[in-house]
Amino acid sequence: MDKPKLYKIEKIEQKTPKVKSFCFYSEKISREAKPGQFLMVWVPGFDEFPISIASAYNRRIEIAVAKVGKGTEALHKFKVGDYVGIRGPYGNWFNNLGEKVCAVVGGYGSPAIRFYAEKNKKDLTVFLGAKTKEELLYKEEIEKFARVKVATEDGSEGFKGLVTELFSQEIEKEKFDRVMSCGPEIMMKKVCEITRDYKIPTQVLTERIVKCAKGFCGSCDLGGYRICKEGPVFDSEKIYGKTEFGVWTRDKSGKRASIKGILSEDFSSFLSEQFTPKRDEYFETELCGIKFPNPFMNSSGFGISGKLLYRYAIEGGAGALVTKSVCLEEKEGFDGPNFFEIKKFTPINAMGLPNPGIGNMKYEIEDMKKANVPVILSVFGKNPEEYKKVAEIGVDYGISMVEINVSCPHTEVSSIEENPELVKEIVKEVARVCHPFGIPVSVKISPNSNYIEVAKAAEEGWANSIVAINTLRYMPIDKKLNLKMLGSPSGFGGISGKGIKKLSEKILKDLRKEIDLPIISVGGIFSWKDALKRFTFGASACQIGSAIGYKGIKVFEEIKNGLKNYMEKNGYKNINELISFP
Ligand SMILES: Cc1cc2nc3c(=O)[nH]c(=O)nc-3n(C[C@H](O)[C@H](O)[C@H](O)COP(=O)(O)O)c2cc1C
Ligand code: FES
Repeated sequence: MDKPKLYKIEKIEQKTPKVKSFCFYSEKISREAKPGQFLMVWVPGFDEFPISIASAYNRRIEIAVAKVGKGTEALHKFKVGDYVGIRGPYGNWFNNLGEKVCAVVGGYGSPAIRFYAEKNKKDLTVFLGAKTKEELLYKEEIEKFARVKVATEDGSEGFKGLVTELFSQEIEKEKFDRVMSCGPEIMMKKVCEITRDYKIPTQVLTERIVKCAKGFCGSCDLGGYRICKEGPVFDSEKIYGKTEFGVWTRDKSGKRASIKGILSEDFSSFLSEQFTPKRDEYFETELCGIKFPNPFMNSSGFGISGKLLYRYAIEGGAGALVTKSVCLEEKEGFDGPNFFEIKKFTPINAMGLPNPGIGNMKYEIEDMKKANVPVILSVFGKNPEEYKKVAEIGVDYGISMVEINVSCPHTEVSSIEENPELVKEIVKEVARVCHPFGIPVSVKISPNSNYIEVAKAAEEGWANSIVAINTLRYMPIDKKLNLKMLGSPSGFGGISGKGIKKLSEKILKDLRKEIDLPIISVGGIFSWKDALKRFTFGASACQIGSAIGYKGIKVFEEIKNGLKNYMEKNGYKNINELISFP
């Protein structure tokens, strides 16, 4: 199970003025870890952050932590014998190809290369850069396994200047057949430019904000690729000039942010290509007057960037795309831990509804629209007026449908569904700005309140459909430390995945008896059999969330294939024939 496990700190060393290394005993992680992979480190009571593995040797693991934020500053005050939570390892690793290999490393990039050098007995040259001699990290350790060529910006050791300048001089003399790079993104971009001219295959170790580390939340998006799932190591040809790598980064809210003060404002030149979804008569359907190529879509919260969501349609075959829940102003979300498993295939999350704010969603939505499937904007706010304003701006962006989130169980939104009259008012306000443009409105409810009353209030407030269910409220506690594990102020999070499957089925059946609106079912749908059940219980469409993290983007295609097989064998011609109403 993927949950932070407590480890005692065995050793601490001050490596540079800002960096300390921490050593833990873990036979399992030490055995599994590969160079390039990272761990999620929970500093109890403070935060959780991703960190590259610097060494896995003699049943021990080592990490090097720079003091750069709340969690890392707190960890620097910890002593030998204190406990830290660790989950992982996560992500992919550097390949083992090449005979004469080199690494270009700067900033805090050297731990991963120290680990690579320790594991791979190669002809390895490491170009190690820092501002000053004091900031050279793991130089002596790497020297045990590789030739190290140093560059410092102040000239206090080795070449005076940038490490990329030293590298571009040396590449002429040496015939490297493989290059790796770790460190600041602008430096890695420069390395890719140099090696492209020499046609040398290059891998880079990317960094973004990592929250779940399991391919669920999309906060680590590089513009289509999640670095925790498809990375953090990427071949340069896959990402250079094709993603946000070296162009912009994203802050905790998911908003595009500058790298070293450089932020391209010309987002329009980065848009995805037009796509035409495959027609399939078995699955074509209409919901609230909108045509869908198929009734399977992602559920809200599984991606922020338009490019990632676009992939769900073009690679995964999703029939509609749902945005992260968006409010008026950008929101960073909660400190970590934001996410872990409480049982197998059953995660809990307390992301805190991070989002870039509707004003920064224009180009994300533009990207999503290129997939040519309905784009559904999930909205929330502090009051009916805010919900309305967000929806109104979304309508301007050309969305197809609005999903009103009144049910996130770990944020301020959770109190809304306690008050059905308020739900009704919110739905009416949103409907007022959507219905005149033919844009339907659905309301997402949860198992944490009287869901029948909430659904009825939504129906009275002119909702066109109900989405059920959001996550199930729960507060995990670490018994050893007697401490709330999630970083949300309340300690509560929401359970998703297989653990809420039965509950979601029950709620669907209950709702089907009580309301006339179409229902989009969500919660624990992993397979075509799960989906079939939802249609036979009266759902008109299905949303898939956790299964994207566990099974990958192709889960939509897998479910459609299984269902189509079943329909062919049993003489059904269209998905609507499966939907039963009581
Ligand atoms: C990481 C994560 C983020 C989520 N973010 C949102 C959100 O922003 N808005 C929302 O309505 N639901 C959100 N949800 C809830 C899901 O949309 C869905 O209702 C829930 O996960 C149950 O479906 P599943 O079992 O298929 O995951 C989130 C769930 C997860 C795991
Ligand atoms: S951190 Fe990578 S998808 Fe959540």
